Amino acid sequence: MHHGDDAAVHLRAAGVSLVIDLEAAVPRVLHWGADLGDDPETDAALRLTSTPAILNNAPDVPRAFTVWPTEHDGWSGTPAQSGHAAGTATTPRPRLADAQVEWDASGGGRIRIRLHDEVTGLDADADYALDRFGVLTVSLSVERPAGVDDGARYDLDGLRALLPVPARATDLLDFTGKWVRERSPQRGPLREGSHVRRARRGKPGHDSPFLLALGTAGFGFGHGEVWATHLAYSGDGEYLAERLPESAGALRSVLGAGELLRAGEVRLAPGERYDAPPVVFVYAAAGLDEVSHRLHQRLRARATHPSAPRPLTLNTWEAVYFDHDLPRLAALVERAVEVGVERLVLDDGWFRHRRSDRAGLGDWYIDEGVWPDGLSPLVDLVRGAGMQFGLWFEPEMINPDSDLARAHPDWILGPSQGAGVTARNQQVLDIARPEAWDYLLERVSSIVAAYDIDYLKWDHNRDLLEAVARRPDGDRPAVRAQTLALYRLIDELRRRHPGLEIETCSGGGGRVDLGILERTDRIWASDCNDPVERSRIERWTRTIVPPELIGSHLGDARSHTTSRVTDLSFRLITALTAHAGIEADLTTADAAQLAAITAWAELYREVRPLVHAGRVVNADLPDEQTQLSGIVAQDGSRALYTWSRLASSAEGQSGRIPLPGLDPRSRYTIRVRAELGEATRREVADPIWVAAATGAELELPGSVLATAGLPLPALDPQQAMLFDVRRVS
Ligand code: GLA
Repeated sequence: MHHGDDAAVHLRAAGVSLVIDLEAAVPRVLHWGADLGDDPETDAALRLTSTPAILNNAPDVPRAFTVWPTEHDGWSGTPAQSGHAAGTATTPRPRLADAQVEWDASGGGRIRIRLHDEVTGLDADADYALDRFGVLTVSLSVERPAGVDDGARYDLDGLRALLPVPARATDLLDFTGKWVRERSPQRGPLREGSHVRRARRGKPGHDSPFLLALGTAGFGFGHGEVWATHLAYSGDGEYLAERLPESAGALRSVLGAGELLRAGEVRLAPGERYDAPPVVFVYAAAGLDEVSHRLHQRLRARATHPSAPRPLTLNTWEAVYFDHDLPRLAALVERAVEVGVERLVLDDGWFRHRRSDRAGLGDWYIDEGVWPDGLSPLVDLVRGAGMQFGLWFEPEMINPDSDLARAHPDWILGPSQGAGVTARNQQVLDIARPEAWDYLLERVSSIVAAYDIDYLKWDHNRDLLEAVARRPDGDRPAVRAQTLALYRLIDELRRRHPGLEIETCSGGGGRVDLGILERTDRIWASDCNDPVERSRIERWTRTIVPPELIGSHLGDARSHTTSRVTDLSFRLITALTAHAGIEADLTTADAAQLAAITAWAELYREVRPLVHAGRVVNADLPDEQTQLSGIVAQDGSRALYTWSRLASSAEGQSGRIPLPGLDPRSRYTIRVRAELGEATRREVADPIWVAAATGAELELPGSVLATAGLPLPALDPQQAMLFDVRRVS
């Protein structure tokens, strides 16, 4: 509720407070973090105590960290805004023009701040929305007032949402990665200076910073305060953590993000406006799992969040690659039905000239040579068996060897001097060009309509380089225009085909962000199905994305992307706790394997209501080669845990490990779910409790499960076990 000092606005939701002082010439962020309670005196007291010492050899005014940090208020760090008007107007001096506050009945609210800047002549909006889950979204815009256009432009170089965080946030975590190894965490101390991560690939990339988190010393999944940010955008981006000796107002460091703009990309004429992509900020009092919980709740509350059970999927890529042959696929469909698959997705290879990855992108017509009767014979088989049908597209790309490139060489993105290097033999289509955009919409939409397609796998297999579009006024940087055109294209397709689901894929997980997730229903987390790698990739992907939106597939014993060989049970368990699927040629599986896969499909159907709605938890384990991850029903009545060992380690015993997310005051039963096969162990005998929980339910108090913990079996490398926990009282 709004209370206390009218000069400060205090938004509160789900254990988070945001306090902004509106009395200053530029509003100041006084606090973002733990809930400060509802004492009406808090806000005035916070204002009173928000002025730090004036240091020697420093500006003679107290330091303040505003909603729009500039040099005018003494900030020598990265500014909120950078740009110029033909080399002038480089030092903005925004001033508060207006502020509106909206209180949300279900918790949280919104502060809309309007600024005007005499130096640049721009109006600006800074919008702070705290939702009922405690997630703060900051949206910034600048606008040039309408007027006579004398041809002069304001060149915007960057607009960043920045928030101050306290000195005790000393540890930094963000992510990097590559193809088949996405979301690899990197941690270290936050030092003086700027830690800047730039995505200049035309997408977040396989090495996307993904989530930049600052936390108290040693913060983990279940403990430590965390302040984290994510850029909800699929184009170029910049993440920043920064610390200057003189600090950010009364607080110590700065966290933020924004779109990375290329020189000349945004040139504002009178009446033009730039809306920065939303930047999401999440505070958690107790570790990264709480960050995830807030973000998952937010995603799940969307009207567009998939509500139907997530169908067990078979994707044909690693089963047949480009060998599209109806009898072969028919045999695969038959096996898929037997094991209980509910959706079949025909991957790359169905369209004209696409006999390999060297040609065809852009020619979105069914290949008459491969599919003489169109896709109907296959679609009818799939539908006849009661399955949904999905199809792969890579709309934003074009092979130089395609009819489309031959007909419209000018539709290829790149400078007038000629297109740059290919990647995976492909170039990028200039989809901000209306004719190209219309062509794609017509092609994708008509194929979706022709076969009443349920699902698209939407791929994007290369980084953008020299992404400039040839326009009448010259070659213009194009990533922003491409990204917005992509969003418009997906939005229009979804409008035309309301039931259509879309999976976002980018050579696996190269485009995973909350911008694309606003308009898609699933992410392909990685091209790597190797369960050792996948366990890590998905654990970290889940920090932002809930399990029902993460595709996770059973692959071959020998991984196609790492050559590692793993047991079927380990692969099945790893693929179970997400939106499960199969990425393997079932026609080569023997009877025992098919039986195991069938049992897994049944187990998936049993546990998916829990997995797809529950709260994700992770144990903080000193041994990095082990993982204990769980999903706990929101009402606490049931939980499913995966105990896995990825590689060997020097330790022999796990020690007692508390199962995260349970209530110490409740009683539970625990059962080992061994339907997917016995994990092999490297021990003489299991901890005694395991036998009592195998084939039977062992009742234990929450104090033991959740607080004291259980010693766990010493698994061989590349093995996993499932524990099914139910609350008794
Ligand atoms: C990308 C995707 C794969 C597959 C291939 C097809 O690599 O990530 O899953 O669809 O393209 O070419």
